[in-house]
Amino acid sequence: MNNKIIIINGPNLNLLGEREQSQYGSVTFKELKEICLDKSQELGLNLDFTQSNVEGELVNLIQDCRKSYDGIIINAAAFTHTSVAIRDALDVFKKPIIELHISNIYKREEFRQKSLISDIVTGGIFGLGPDGYILAIISMQKLLNK
Ligand code: DQA
Repeated sequence: MNNKIIIINGPNLNLLGEREQSQYGSVTFKELKEICLDKSQELGLNLDFTQSNVEGELVNLIQDCRKSYDGIIINAAAFTHTSVAIRDALDVFKKPIIELHISNIYKREEFRQKSLISDIVTGGIFGLGPDGYILAIISMQKLLNK
């Protein structure tokens, strides 16, 4: 079965609902996880939903994804703009990857306008708020069923 996917969230996304609501909305991390699990179940996907504030943990996790998952959806948060290590780990995963951002990083500070992973992922979603997670799950299901 080609249906095991993971959503990987980077630093500070555990504080969703609390941090910068003007950028990230009011849905809490826990609520977002529930919404994503419900949508995945509806679409017949088996989802793991994870978060870490630690770059090395994310690198280890992404490396291990090769064996266990058919697709990765990643909001690398601040590490999007800084982490060559996360980029290199993602580059080893030879299956679909969707880059996700809640806010429109291209409308924000200059340092956020550079993503170190955009050119190695399958596709991306940004600026659509927490709904982007739902859209990413739908897109991933289509990619896996091609
Ligand atoms: C973010 C955008 C990043 O610039 C920021 O550091 C985040 C969240 C987003 O989802 O819009 O933490 O990835």
